[in-house]
Amino acid sequence: MAKILVVYDSKTGNTERMAFAVAEGARQVEGVEVVVKKVDKTGVEDLLAADGIIMGSPTYYGQMSAKLKALIDESVKIHGKLEGKVGAAFTSSGGTATGAETTLLSILNAMLIHGMIVQGRANDKHYGAAAVEKPGKEELEYCRELGRRTAILVKKLKS
Ligand SMILES: Cc1cc2nc3c(=O)[nH]c(=O)nc-3n(C[C@H](O)[C@H](O)[C@H](O)COP(=O)(O)O)c2cc1C
Repeated sequence: MAKILVVYDSKTGNTERMAFAVAEGARQVEGVEVVVKKVDKTGVEDLLAADGIIMGSPTYYGQMSAKLKALIDESVKIHGKLEGKVGAAFTSSGGTATGAETTLLSILNAMLIHGMIVQGRANDKHYGAAAVEKPGKEELEYCRELGRRTAILVKKLKS
C-alpha cells in the first residue's frame, strides 16, 4: 500500500475542510492508504511513515502558520530521510493576491530542501490548492484533484 499523510493546521476550520477534500481525492486512487492529522498531533515519525506528504496551512502573513513551521523545523532530526517522497501543499487565505501563493511556496520550498518531489500543475493552480476563507464547491474539487494527483504520482514512483 502507498501511504499518504495529509497534515494540516487550521484555527477556524477552512483549511481543515480542504484537508478532508484532499484526503477524499487521494482515497479515490486504488491501493492508497490515507491518514489525515492535525499538525499538533503529528510528529516526525508520521512524516517518515508516509510515501506522500500533503501539507495544508492557513495563510498567515503570507507564509505557513507557526505550528506547521514548527513541525518542519523539528524534521531537521530526520533530514535526508524524506528524500524521494512526494509532497504537495494547500492553503486557505483571507483574500486573493494576499499571500496564498507565497504560503504554498513556503511549504514547497521546505519540501524541496528535504529532497522531496513536487509536481506542479500546468493549467491554473500551479503551486497547489488555494481557497479564499471557506472553500466552495470549485475549491474543494481542486483539493480532491490535488489528493488524486499526489496519490497517482506516489504509486508510480513506488512501482
Ligand atoms: C495571524 C493571522 C494572519 C493572517 N494573515 C493573512 C495573510 O497574510 N493573508 C491573507 O490573505 N489572510 C491572512 N489571514 C486570514 C486567514 O488566512 C484566513 O482567515 C484563513 O481562511 C484561516 O484558515 P483556517 O480557518 O483554516 O484557520 C490571517 C489570519 C491570521 C489569524
